[in-house]
Amino acid sequence: CGIVGYIGSKKAHEILVEGLEKLEYRGYDSAGIAIFDKGQLKVRKYKGRLSVLREKLSKEEFNATVGIGHTRWATHGEPSDKNAHPHTNRTGDIAVVHNGIIENFIELKEELQDKGYKFVSETDTEVISHLIDYYFDGDLLEAVKKAVSKLEGAFALGVICKDNPDKLIAVRKDSPLIIGIGEGENFIASDIPAILKYTRNVYILEDGEMAVVEKDNIKVMQLNGKPVEKEVFTVNWDVEAAEKGGYDHFMIKEIYEQPKAIKDTLSPRINKDNVIKLDDIKITKEELEKINRVYIIACGTAYHAGLLGKVLIEKYVKIPVIADVASEFRYGSPFIDENTLMIVVSQSGETADTLAALRLAKKNNAKVYAVTNVVGSTISREADEVFYTWAGPEIAVASTKAYTTQLVSMALIALDMAVKKGTIDKKEYDKVLNELRGLSEKAQRILDNTELIKKASEKIYKAQSVFFIGRGIDYDVAREGSLKLKEISYIHSEAMAAGELKHGTIALIEEGTPVIAIATQERLYDKMLSNIKEVKARGAYVIALTKQGNEEIEKTADTVIYIPDVVDELTSVLSVIPLQLLAYYVAVMRGCDVDKPRNLAKSVTVE
Ligand code: G6P
Repeated sequence: CGIVGYIGSKKAHEILVEGLEKLEYRGYDSAGIAIFDKGQLKVRKYKGRLSVLREKLSKEEFNATVGIGHTRWATHGEPSDKNAHPHTNRTGDIAVVHNGIIENFIELKEELQDKGYKFVSETDTEVISHLIDYYFDGDLLEAVKKAVSKLEGAFALGVICKDNPDKLIAVRKDSPLIIGIGEGENFIASDIPAILKYTRNVYILEDGEMAVVEKDNIKVMQLNGKPVEKEVFTVNWDVEAAEKGGYDHFMIKEIYEQPKAIKDTLSPRINKDNVIKLDDIKITKEELEKINRVYIIACGTAYHAGLLGKVLIEKYVKIPVIADVASEFRYGSPFIDENTLMIVVSQSGETADTLAALRLAKKNNAKVYAVTNVVGSTISREADEVFYTWAGPEIAVASTKAYTTQLVSMALIALDMAVKKGTIDKKEYDKVLNELRGLSEKAQRILDNTELIKKASEKIYKAQSVFFIGRGIDYDVAREGSLKLKEISYIHSEAMAAGELKHGTIALIEEGTPVIAIATQERLYDKMLSNIKEVKARGAYVIALTKQGNEEIEKTADTVIYIPDVVDELTSVLSVIPLQLLAYYVAVMRGCDVDKPRNLAKSVTVE
């Protein structure tokens, strides 16, 4: 989502819409503004792209010089006029725009409902406007401070109130927010592009900071009110670089967003006592007990994520699972009846083959879960139950953060089913859950130390052909690594089950052929060492990927890349990151159009 706020003497609605236009790449399912106009707080918000809002606003006259605006990428609640931001209190005097996720919103909502507050939207944001209302006794800043102290999760907020019309309040916790410094006017924004046209001088709020922004004055403080001295940051990016947060490409930006995306997808669904709460998936124990077969159906990267789902559901839920690509599945002779569960995985929620598979399953009375990143997408609407990955919009054609969030979603779904069915013991469950919690920080560690991966990329970027090998989960992630490399660098690459090499593919290994060997699984580690030796003996240049602690692999491989130690079932969430980076660096070295590879589309709506 994107946030903009303005306070000054120009027409606020025009500046807000212009700012939102620059943020549309961050979310575009609905948009809205709140402004003070002729002594009133006016809110205009609509489902659809920003053009809908712009069109409606053009039919009215406004003189407001203060306001906030938002462009939305739905998380809680489908795209609709009601769910669009800003959200207001009961009297319509306080308006709030919000990015992020409020983890304890259900508890807060219940408390507020008990106090008589009525909710008009399905969003988590609406608890904030009511909470501020609850604490408000004339001083907006104090009310916001009290409200914020109740919120758990990630949030960036912009707040205005009719009774304090000379200020905007900005709050940042785990979701970016900046303040643009103008002359006789000031701005708030979630991202720099929104305000670049007006100023290049900004304060970048740190986590746990808030600000009172007036026309001629900005006060920054900690959430407890303690003043903070900020340094002015002068932006020297152009608009295009700013959209990418200073990164060269969306793909690398999205690779670096993975720790946050993983956390956003997991943490609202796991409570302090390690209980998983999937409010979107309401299947009961009885229904689950009837299911005797699961199909996981998807395309491309989403299919690779589905492969982990198969491993985890078979292991923890003890139901046979068939994972297949949608375009093949549809033309086979699948066994589907009312005792079948189908899980479709789709970032966009619009992929034609995946949608057709879903419809086929429903026609044959199966129950269908969708795992998707786009609220309100066709697949989300047609499935019986939906699990959203909260990765945020993914712009690069090559999927990265959608994949890792799909992987953790698979784990959550499998564990939730296993608990309901009683097929997992408590010790194992707690172990996996604790490991899930640690993934975001471990992913960050990989991203903080990429030198070795860059060096490895230099070794392979001129190759004609690259082979990825692995066993079990490592084979699944090998397929994803290979897909990443071929789709953005145009180097031929193939993923092989390491044990299957000797039945044909090893004939292609020559002096210097790069082989990426993934060896993270404990019980398969020795077997992988043998496979690495086999390709080494034929002259391969081997880049091995393993867990910290497996140092003896250095004796066999040419280069070794380590991921932090993690339970075997979840390694792919981490091991894919070096593979994504490798593909990215290689593609950049080869001068490829990383974000828009030739012949490919982000969302494929033809069969
Ligand atoms: C396209 C994209 C891939 C994606 C696949 C499935 O081919 O280029 O990155 O994995 O479609 O898309 P979906 O939106 O269903 O996950």
